[in-house]
Amino acid sequence: MIDLRSDTVTQPTEEMRQAMAEAAVGDDVYGEDPSVNRLEELGARMVGKDAAVFVASGTMGNLVALLAHTQPGEEIIVGAEAHIYYYEAGGLARVAGVLPRQADDRSGVLEASEVKRLLRPENIHFPRTRLVCLENTHNRGGGTVMTPEQMRQVYELAREHGLSVHLDGARIFNASVATGIPVQEFTKYTDSVMFCLSKGLSAPVGSLLAGTREFVARARRARKLVGGGMRQAGVLAAAGIVALERMVDRLAEDHANARLLAEGIAGLPGIHLDLNRVQTNIVAFELTGDGMSADEFLQRLRQKGILAGSMSSTCIRMVTNRHITRGDIETVIKAVAEILH
Ligand SMILES: Cc1ncc(COP(=O)(O)O)c(C=O)c1O
Repeated sequence: MIDLRSDTVTQPTEEMRQAMAEAAVGDDVYGEDPSVNRLEELGARMVGKDAAVFVASGTMGNLVALLAHTQPGEEIIVGAEAHIYYYEAGGLARVAGVLPRQADDRSGVLEASEVKRLLRPENIHFPRTRLVCLENTHNRGGGTVMTPEQMRQVYELAREHGLSVHLDGARIFNASVATGIPVQEFTKYTDSVMFCLSKGLSAPVGSLLAGTREFVARARRARKLVGGGMRQAGVLAAAGIVALERMVDRLAEDHANARLLAEGIAGLPGIHLDLNRVQTNIVAFELTGDGMSADEFLQRLRQKGILAGSMSSTCIRMVTNRHITRGDIETVIKAVAEILH
């Protein structure tokens, strides 16, 4: 099978398996796991923050960030298309108890002008707004990159109004590799950033949540609250270290394959694909033809040995990853053309 459902399907590399087998471990809830400590220090340094905490997943990292930034009943400004709002099982409301103010991020970028529109003046009737959540790259936007300048504008606006900024940077290294801009140029315009080791970087499990020391201390407590305090987690952290040290640069291959795929299918009848949105490892397109649903399209792809995903009843998503070769892309282009004809 050619699996384009997500970059989360990537298997750990041999080097990761080796590192996992040999990892020095301890009880991380006591702060005694040397591999976890090393991963957290490395991750924090890479994104230019003081400290980081290792969490089980991106979803947990975002939830813990909300718990550490907010009090129940406070409001957050978050894109209506953002992963935190759309795909995290409502944890923001159920667990963190925050009120989501939905911003328009359909373009794949949550612009400062949109944040500005949603700012509330001081008024006894209003909930207190505490946090702005950004996403880079933007998953439902099609892997779009928010530039450091766009992030700076949001960050400065937020600061002026006493709000913090959290970045769902599940794929922030994709943004960096795609633009050639160091990752710290993006993350310096955030108070906290979550990034995933288990997507294109191929680690089997885990994400990091980084910020100031004081923020990370609160996040550690929140991680405990949601049951995320792990013990000899160094076996997982060891793979994460390999992910950060060895797997970042190769994301460029995924981007090149996504581009090749997008250009190969963009002109086909029955789909609408905006090539401007294909900036990283995600290719999203709308089925515009004779009423074929996304489910039907996915089923026909599956019959040809290809797995993909959908983002709505008419929108298909394909995500390139380490296991996808150039040859696979050619096979997929041919298969898509056959289905559409
Ligand atoms: C933008 C974004 N944020 C967060 C997550 C959540 O990560 P996880 O699947 O590790 O919970 C994902 C997962 O696909 C994502 O795409």
